[in-house]
Amino acid sequence: MKFIQVKDYKHLSREAADLIINRVRQKPSLKLGLATGETPIETYRLLIDDHQKNGTSYKQVKTFNLDEYVGLSGEHEQSYHYFMKKYLFDHIDIPKECTYIPNGNGQGLAECNLYEDIISQHGGIDLQLLGIGRNGHIGFNEPGTSFDSKTHVIDLTPSTREANARFFNGIEKVPTKAITMGISTILQSKEILMIISGESKREALHNLIHNGIDEAFPASALKNHPNVTVIVDEAACGNTRLPN
Ligand code: GLP
Repeated sequence: MKFIQVKDYKHLSREAADLIINRVRQKPSLKLGLATGETPIETYRLLIDDHQKNGTSYKQVKTFNLDEYVGLSGEHEQSYHYFMKKYLFDHIDIPKECTYIPNGNGQGLAECNLYEDIISQHGGIDLQLLGIGRNGHIGFNEPGTSFDSKTHVIDLTPSTREANARFFNGIEKVPTKAITMGISTILQSKEILMIISGESKREALHNLIHNGIDEAFPASALKNHPNVTVIVDEAACGNTRLPN
């Protein structure tokens, strides 16, 4: 894993957006894995800004989102379908039919297999953007998820539901399940870009650096991947020293 430390969220977003823009320019038909949550919002804003000012085109790009809540419709403001349209898809020239997101109202296992098939039929993901949960989850792969997992439906832990309650009106409104790419699905991406920002992620970053590879800490699976860049800001680092 290669770590890049930057000053703050603004610089982290610039660095992440520049890497994505570069990859899209190098390969206009890039297969791009996308993440939700608060962290990538500014990165997406910078992609939109670059698209508008410099004309970087997403006409041939295909995107694959990591996850979606089970039981929310695509029109629900907290669904990841809604999030992606609001923060990215509605503002760039990507055809809507080229944006894939797991269907939270699909038929369980059949939906999971379908999502895996769609990714493979496109030749796999070139670049996967990832955030990290406070408990080290990636996508919605909670601690204990097998590193061999493919796309699956998962029960959200109380801590994840609590962390995401700020987006809903109270924890009881946060769905209890989600559909997520599995850890092995994520590891099959050719390149991975993880962004970690803010004090609330300090423990997660510390564990990512110091823990061994262990299913109890899902993000540690990335240590098995040959091409991972992790961009972190000073607030996430605290006193943690990054490996050279
Ligand atoms: C959710 C998403 C993850 C994301 C995490 C952290 O659980 N499923 O993909 O990385 O939140 O989000 P935030 O960036 O808001 O801290």
